[in-house]
Amino acid sequence: MQVYVVATPAEVGRLAGAKIGALIRSKPEAVLGVATGSSPLDVYAELARQVKEEGLDCSKVTAFALDEYVGLPVGHPESYRKVLERDVVGPLGLNPDKLNVPDGASDDIAAAAIDYERRIREQGPVDLQILGIGANGHIGFNEPTSSFSSRTRIKTLAPKTRADNARFFDSPEQVPMHCLTQGLGTILDARTALLVAQGENKAAAIAGMVEGPVTSMCPGSILQFHPDAIVIADEAAASQLKLTEYYAYTYENLPSWQRFEQPQA
Ligand code: GLP
Repeated sequence: MQVYVVATPAEVGRLAGAKIGALIRSKPEAVLGVATGSSPLDVYAELARQVKEEGLDCSKVTAFALDEYVGLPVGHPESYRKVLERDVVGPLGLNPDKLNVPDGASDDIAAAAIDYERRIREQGPVDLQILGIGANGHIGFNEPTSSFSSRTRIKTLAPKTRADNARFFDSPEQVPMHCLTQGLGTILDARTALLVAQGENKAAAIAGMVEGPVTSMCPGSILQFHPDAIVIADEAAASQLKLTEYYAYTYENLPSWQRFEQPQA
């Protein structure tokens, strides 16, 4: 696992955006796994800047959402399809037909999950999966005790997750009880997993997933088994890590070919 600790949330976005921009430049038809929530917003803003100022072309990129609420009406502004259309498809100039989101409005949720896995299998593998992390260590909506080999399926949102996401709705009761989420096994299939975290309320989750034991009580810790997992955290989110000096030392001594701060022209 590569761990980068940077000073500010904006720096998280800049560094992650450099990595993703370089991928899309070298592979315009890249398959990107896209997360919702606040964590990746600076990443998308940095990519939108590259599109605007540096001519980055994302029109051939295929995107797969990590998850979707179950039961929101089609077109609900807080459905993850709408959020991704707003925050990613528009600003990055993605082809809307190339955005895949699990169908949380389906009458047959089990079939919708199987269909999503089929689409990932046919169009994947995902080249790079962008991830945030929940305060309880969840990735996607894989709440604590999720199976490490799980595939896309229905999950019940933990009360803490519903409370955290209430800020996007008019009242806490409006946050759906269920979701469709890529499983931990699905996420592990991505060639690269890039997790971003900002703020003090993520510090325990980041310490658990990076330096704690691999345990389904902290689902993000499964990334310790991923062959190419990258964590980019600001100082607040990294504040409970023990090996911070080692990560800085590693960063300073990275071979030039492994650096991704400077997007290739
Ligand atoms: C959400 C999403 C995750 C996200 C996490 C953290 O509910 N399903 O993909 O990474 O919880 O959210 P945030 O980035 O808003 O803190």
